[in-house]
Amino acid sequence: MNHELVEKNVGWLAVLIAVAISFGGLVEIVPLMHQNAVTQPLPGMHPRTPLEVAGRDVYLREGCYNCHSQMVRSLAEEVLRYGPAGQAGESVWDHPFQWGSKRTGPDLSRIGGKYSDEWHRIHLMNPRDVVPESNMPAFPWLAEKKFGPGEVAAMMRALQRVGVPYTDDEIAKADADVAGKTEMDALIAYLQSLKFPQPPAPANQPAAPAAAAAASAPQAGSAP
Ligand code: HEC
Repeated sequence: MNHELVEKNVGWLAVLIAVAISFGGLVEIVPLMHQNAVTQPLPGMHPRTPLEVAGRDVYLREGCYNCHSQMVRSLAEEVLRYGPAGQAGESVWDHPFQWGSKRTGPDLSRIGGKYSDEWHRIHLMNPRDVVPESNMPAFPWLAEKKFGPGEVAAMMRALQRVGVPYTDDEIAKADADVAGKTEMDALIAYLQSLKFPQPPAPANQPAAPAAAAAASAPQAGSAP
């Protein structure tokens, strides 16, 4: 009887749908805002250096994210190919984060250390020189442009305002850090910084190898 009333009265139907969806949204979203796993950086993470911040800005401007995600899914084949599955805490200082599902090229969240700086330089100048079958565009102009005075400090101040723990001292040194570097140098420094954070080693033990982190990631069988 009540059901019929609601179904035949579009106004009430709309209001009740809005209430149901809002309630569902609140229950899903609000707890996330208060969970440490989502709001706290992982152990061993450091805010990016000025050069890496500058490189990340180039990455966003050039639209690298249109073809590259930075999110290893917790599927066995992804963990085997790229390394430890992505965790929300890795991205708390990234504004905006670079997750995504568009992968014309491979995921880049574990690219740091995979190639030398020189490989990246050749690859960015003309991808076909190192990967003959590549259809990635070339970005040769990055090797010419440099950063203006105060440019990178402004990026860092914006990040500081949204919660990245930079000190004013660190921001003041930004110009010195990028002095003489090209946009390509900065982009490569950023790419080399993309790796799963290594937790600090306990006092009398060597640092945990990346393989241990990979082993603790979800295993085959947990894939849907
Ligand atoms: C139109 C799509 C496209 C865009 C835009 C693009 N890439 Fe790529 N990228 C690819 C493809 C396809 C590959 C795989 C072939 C290769 O290695 O060149 C690739 C490979 C790579 C690799 C090597 C990955 C590996 O694990 O071997 C890196 C690093 C990379 N891209 C960085 C970048 C950066 C940095 C930018 C932005 C300046 C960018 N890409 C923009 C398509 C793209």
